[in-house]
Amino acid sequence: MSAEEIDWSALRDAAVEAMQRAYAPYSEFPVGAAALVDDGRIIAGCNVENASYGVGLCAECTLVGQLQLTGGGKLVAFDCVDGRGNTLMPCGRCRQLLFEASAPGMLLNTVSGVKTIEEVLPDAFGPRTLEAYAAQE
Ligand code: THU
Repeated sequence: MSAEEIDWSALRDAAVEAMQRAYAPYSEFPVGAAALVDDGRIIAGCNVENASYGVGLCAECTLVGQLQLTGGGKLVAFDCVDGRGNTLMPCGRCRQLLFEASAPGMLLNTVSGVKTIEEVLPDAFGPRTLEAYAAQE
């Protein structure tokens, strides 16, 4: 899918709505994420923190849970916002998490324009890496 075919405004609305449901009493940094799945549905996630700080979940974590829970599939486009509704880059761990759930070439709305998942996580370690190792045995 090309960047022009994506309804980025629908994704932004879903990300902002999710951000408003964040549970972020410790950082006071609510985050919302939304994605288009390859079957056309839009899914979302928000960060969910914990009194044991390190246990907190990023918005991308709950989004990937939502993906699986609502029927699976692969992500084709992704958007993420901070508490002001501005574009937020996924943290490094979440780029890895998204890579696993992404269709090849998944598009992300980033702070420096629309980019692919391969651009924001170059030379990624992923399922195909493991498959390549398994094939050598
Ligand atoms: N956070 C996310 O939800 N996603 C990211 O990609 C960056 C950081 C959350 C984690 C924590 O609840 C808060 O933002 C402050 O780091």
